[in-house]
Amino acid sequence: MAKKVAVVTGSNKGIGFAIVKGLLQKFDGVVYLTSRDEGRGQAAVAELNKLGLYPAYYQLDVADRESIVRFRDHIKETQGGIDILINNAGVANSVKLYNTYEEGKEIIDINYYSILTIQELLYPLVRNNGRILNISSDCGHLSNLRNKHWIERLSKRDFTQEDVLEFVSWYLEGLKNGTFKNEELADEGTISAYRIAKVALSAQTILQQKQLASRNISVNSMHPGLVQTDMTKGVGFFSIDDAAKTPLYIVLEAPQDLKGAYIWYDGKVLDWYDYNADYYFKSKTLTP
Ligand SMILES: NC(=O)c1ccc[n+]([C@@H]2O[C@H](COP(=O)([O-])OP(=O)(O)OC[C@H]3O[C@@H](n4cnc5c(N)ncnc54)[C@H](OP(=O)(O)O)[C@@H]3O)[C@@H](O)[C@H]2O)c1
Repeated sequence: MAKKVAVVTGSNKGIGFAIVKGLLQKFDGVVYLTSRDEGRGQAAVAELNKLGLYPAYYQLDVADRESIVRFRDHIKETQGGIDILINNAGVANSVKLYNTYEEGKEIIDINYYSILTIQELLYPLVRNNGRILNISSDCGHLSNLRNKHWIERLSKRDFTQEDVLEFVSWYLEGLKNGTFKNEELADEGTISAYRIAKVALSAQTILQQKQLASRNISVNSMHPGLVQTDMTKGVGFFSIDDAAKTPLYIVLEAPQDLKGAYIWYDGKVLDWYDYNADYYFKSKTLTP
């Protein structure tokens, strides 16, 4: 029988690295550590080797279609399929809490549009009964929105792909031509591109689950908590190893019928549609 295969994107450091480490300890199969930069990826592999852990490695830049095509072909030829796919790669604001158009576009490309390319190219390789986990954020809960039009459209249980794509385009257009207003989002519109990208990612998860239900694949999104990584400049309540516990539970142990859910870092399933809830990200939590 073919060996089982797990893949984690953006796993040369941070939460993704800890998830790879945990999979190598708990999952009976091949575990892929992937990274956009080969040198950083190989250094991470060497670090795991020192612990007696041996991941497979492949270069994978989620914002580069050609890179995803190469990875797809590699998996097809060498493994035949994927059993667990964790879409973890992400970027947030580099310095300031408010985005220029250029930075906003890059954040959306990496955190959201990449998932559409991965959906197109890699999801056909995910085997029946497989598991996909999209690492979202508290920024991805619907309660991050204040704009009434988008709350109304995205809180409908039958929202469509068009709704999600138009939501993201609306934001990018607004950022470009100066019509986007900070009050359209919670927390006075801080890290707006990241919020839009993660709301779109969690919405996309729901659409993906509907598409893959007939193959009994589970697709969920989650908020990993505020974790001490380079992304938060070391601020956070959790170490990367602690933060990896719930993602590992979701892909290895949770019931297969946990599907299309938005999951909190403690494993609790939240109602993603509850736009009045208090689950949105507050930038004051970044102050040490
Ligand atoms: N830390 C938190 O508190 C927190 C909270 C909520 C959600 N999250 C989410 O958790 C995930 C992991 O974040 P983290 O905190 O572990 O951040 P991190 O330490 O900065 O790691 C991010 C990883 O993503 C990779 N990456 C960025 N762009 C990529 C691309 N185009 N292709 C492939 N890989 C790419 C990075 O690679 P390079 O080394 O090449 O940059 C790095 O390996 C992200 O999706 C993030 O949004 C984190």
